[in-house]
Amino acid sequence: MAANHSAVSDPSWPAAASDTSPLRVEAVDFDWDNGRPALRSCNLRLPGPGLWMLVGSNGSGKSTLLRLIIGLLSPRAGRISTRGKPALVFQNPDHQLLLPSCASDLQLGLPEGLAAEERRRRVARALNQVGLAGLDDRPIHTLSGGQKQRLAIAGALASEAALLLLDEPTALLDPTSQTEVLDLIRALCSRTEQPLSALWITHRLEELDRCDGAARMEAGRIGPWQEGRRLRRELDPLPAGRVEG
Ligand SMILES: Nc1ncnc2c1ncn2[C@@H]1O[C@H](COP(=O)(O)OP(=O)(O)OP(=O)(O)O)[C@@H](O)[C@H]1O
Ligand SMILES: [Mg+2]
Repeated sequence: MAANHSAVSDPSWPAAASDTSPLRVEAVDFDWDNGRPALRSCNLRLPGPGLWMLVGSNGSGKSTLLRLIIGLLSPRAGRISTRGKPALVFQNPDHQLLLPSCASDLQLGLPEGLAAEERRRRVARALNQVGLAGLDDRPIHTLSGGQKQRLAIAGALASEAALLLLDEPTALLDPTSQTEVLDLIRALCSRTEQPLSALWITHRLEELDRCDGAARMEAGRIGPWQEGRRLRRELDPLPAGRVEG
């Protein structure tokens, strides 16, 4: 069912968000130039830091929503507010890694006006946070797909983003790299000091088991937050290995 009420209006899950919500999307409408509606009275509110997942059929408006949140598109009506800087992580890291080496790419995303030593320090810290310590000079084309995706996440960290918007970040990865990237985002979103907020779009239903809450998007609207495992069961009543008999 495509529910049309906002996450925050749902009393069942989780406790009502305060004004410190990392992301609020309120009654947003967006149409493409051809007049085709993509979002219709879309509401979403992240209850707090954590890993929040969004699922929905092809064309339901998930990627459009992320583009609106990051400011690449503007809503026709409604309001979007974020607390802290948002950063987008694409499905294909090759679409966002621009410079030849890990360090040079990360330098690009650093805030301006930092001294050279501080820039080096921040690059090293970002690489360390994503498990790529010491790979500063490594040419990007020699990284695996999973390492490239973790480097893209390091870029978001180096830019001091507090809200990560991840559009099917594991879709192109092998199972081991999928797990590594999910583990990494989980760790960043559940650390005690300055935990991040992540809005993670997925078609991989097994990933729902690892989130703090999940919601379903259909026809440009988002339903209420639910427990990830519960939404997975709703969408995939027969897990792999079980057959109807
Ligand atoms: N640049 C564009 N111009 C016109 N229509 C577009 C454009 N990009 C997307 N759309 C339309 O907007 C709607 C929502 O697309 P969107 O890419 O947001 O869906 P999605 O939920 O991310 O789908 P998927 O799961 O396949 O990635 C679709 O009808 C799509 O055809
Ligand atoms: Mg999409």
